[in-house]
Amino acid sequence: MANTSMKNQRAMALAAVEYPRTTARKPSLLVTAPSEANCPVRFHFESVLSSAAKPKVFNQHARRARYSIAIRLALTVKSRKDHFMNTIPISRRDFARLLGAGAAAALVRPQVSFAKPTQVGTTLTTGGGIVRLSANENPYGPSPKALQAMTDSFGLACRYPDEHDNVLIEKLAKLNGINHDQILLGDGSGEILKLCAETFTGPQNGALVVADPTFEAILHNASAQGAEVVKVPLTPTYAHDLTKMLASAKAGLIYVCNPNNPTASITPKNDLQDFIAKTPPQTTILVDEAYFHYADSPDYESVIPLVKDHPNLIVSRTFSKIYGMAGLRCGYCVAQKDAIDRLRRNQMWDSVNCMALAAAVASLDDVDHVPNGQRMNREAKAFVTSELDKMGYKQIPSQANFIMFDCKRPVTPLIQAMKQRKVHVGRLFPALPTYMRLTIGKKSEMQSFIDAFKQVIA
Ligand SMILES: Cc1ncc(COP(=O)(O)O)c(C=O)c1O
Repeated sequence: MANTSMKNQRAMALAAVEYPRTTARKPSLLVTAPSEANCPVRFHFESVLSSAAKPKVFNQHARRARYSIAIRLALTVKSRKDHFMNTIPISRRDFARLLGAGAAAALVRPQVSFAKPTQVGTTLTTGGGIVRLSANENPYGPSPKALQAMTDSFGLACRYPDEHDNVLIEKLAKLNGINHDQILLGDGSGEILKLCAETFTGPQNGALVVADPTFEAILHNASAQGAEVVKVPLTPTYAHDLTKMLASAKAGLIYVCNPNNPTASITPKNDLQDFIAKTPPQTTILVDEAYFHYADSPDYESVIPLVKDHPNLIVSRTFSKIYGMAGLRCGYCVAQKDAIDRLRRNQMWDSVNCMALAAAVASLDDVDHVPNGQRMNREAKAFVTSELDKMGYKQIPSQANFIMFDCKRPVTPLIQAMKQRKVHVGRLFPALPTYMRLTIGKKSEMQSFIDAFKQVIA
């Protein structure tokens, strides 16, 4: 629990530090000491819950006016916690409604005080002049609606998430045409992967079968369970070799990352459908669709619609990539109820924090966010791949927000040399020792990459 609350505070501080980027958002609430009149928490409760008691004392925060905005916001939330815990008599259902109404509350807000979030900054990832192209993050950050929803939800910080996650689950269920009980939220999709390893691999359950190379997190989780890990090389077209993977599996878990990290390649939809149909029910399949939104090949398709016919199929998704919420931690999986119930047994209570829930709900309401993110990724990717083409460096065709290209020499010294020039690129993947994994950042960041890369290979 201590861990969770530390994480929550970190998430709030993360949200807070983005604000100073826009002067329009420096606002009474954030720059001057918050007063009762411009306190978003107070507004929030009054607007949405007619029965809520009115918080009284906020001017105690006035002394903090000289502190940095980030620290002050985090402290404000923290110090209000006790106050709300003791003074606001509202039910958990009200809170769930409050979370769902966050966006609506923002819309009906009168001439309030603190301005709307517009463009998110990326100070944390680019601090010290570092160009961070190493973690497949989204450089554009969360939707403005998500930033607003987080601001509106500071008052929820004193409550356990409990039923608040229902609002997000309902939305995801509607979006995917499935039942509420077919979704499990996680502290990032990383938690879902860990739960799958814990539930379906190990000496009692069987081995983990994965592609090589692939996203390694689940390999570590399965090894920690004492499970054997079987690696099956990708095919020459960098697809999962599903025939060999199936032949290697006895019960246990097969992990299919589609699009695959680190190769950004896809496993064609027809092959995947055949494989899912052939896999015996005692073997569980986890298809990781973290990069789903970036894939635009006609050969690519989500397998979420297949869940209804396959009790052994689990599909994971994340808010870390196209939704730009990697620091907030929110992911989920879709599976049949029995599988969800089994996974839940291993899960920590309250693993998704209130801010992440609010941001995720609001992100789904922002109809422009996904297409804009796809377009910007496509443009920056086209720029960098054409520059690499001109220099004679071949890439694996990318269906994600990163590329993998052949440097034609061992990549480790290049990674180091790039780092010295403050351009961080992906780590070594031993199965492809001459390949560099490069996250697609903003176009200016890709230009910085090209400039530094030209120097290190000279
Ligand atoms: C393929 C894949 N799956 C899962 C994750 C974990 O993402 P998160 O825990 O942020 O949802 C990542 C992170 O980079 C990834 O690349």
